[in-house]
Amino acid sequence: MFHDIPIGMLERMHELERRDRADRIDGTPRLDRLRQIPEETGRFLALWAASAPKGAVIEIGTSAGYSTLWLSLACRATARTLTTFEVLPRKVAFARETFSGAGVDDVVKLVEGDFLDYADEFDQVGFCFLDAEKEVYEACYDVVVPCLVPGGILIADNAINHRETLQPMLDAALVDERVDALVVPIGKGELVCRRKT
Ligand SMILES: C[S@@+](CC[C@H](N)C(=O)[O-])C[C@H]1O[C@@H](n2cnc3c(N)ncnc32)[C@H](O)[C@@H]1O
Repeated sequence: MFHDIPIGMLERMHELERRDRADRIDGTPRLDRLRQIPEETGRFLALWAASAPKGAVIEIGTSAGYSTLWLSLACRATARTLTTFEVLPRKVAFARETFSGAGVDDVVKLVEGDFLDYADEFDQVGFCFLDAEKEVYEACYDVVVPCLVPGGILIADNAINHRETLQPMLDAALVDERVDALVVPIGKGELVCRRKT
């Protein structure tokens, strides 16, 4: 999976990494910034997604598609597709360019809109990556966890760098008897939840 990343995808990844770094220091307004995961989190997500049980693979919060590219590696390796949701039209346009440039249009379905408006379309989820506005994390968690298949995985970003805002959701997840959960100190902090069988 990591040893044969196509050159077109690697180039896109590097472009997005450069743009994300620049965004953080050049005064780009918050909603225009990519705010993407670091590379190590991408690798972490791809490993988990490739190991997830059968079921839908979804991502909530596409931005320009950097994390999606990492997830697409897992989907390619396991002959699955993924659906990613992005609410901002200009990010959707950016992500479309990313996916066609990286050659992953056959693996990635990009949906423009608020994930919560599509929530009832999923009832068998094998893997979900949650990386949207922090205000919707709790609602997304409440929708996704009941849809996870046994052994299904939900990973939520920003569990450490936005710990204060996310604390109620983190506290609830860590004692939620439907899942085994922990916070992993990688990147911005990942909440990993595995649905019990
Ligand atoms: C932190 S960025 C995602 C970064 C991306 N996962 C990456 O690592 O490359 C969060 C994105 O989620 C989008 N978003 C926020 N709330 C959403 C929702 N309810 N449904 C879909 N997208 C949402 C925002 O517009 C923003 O582009």
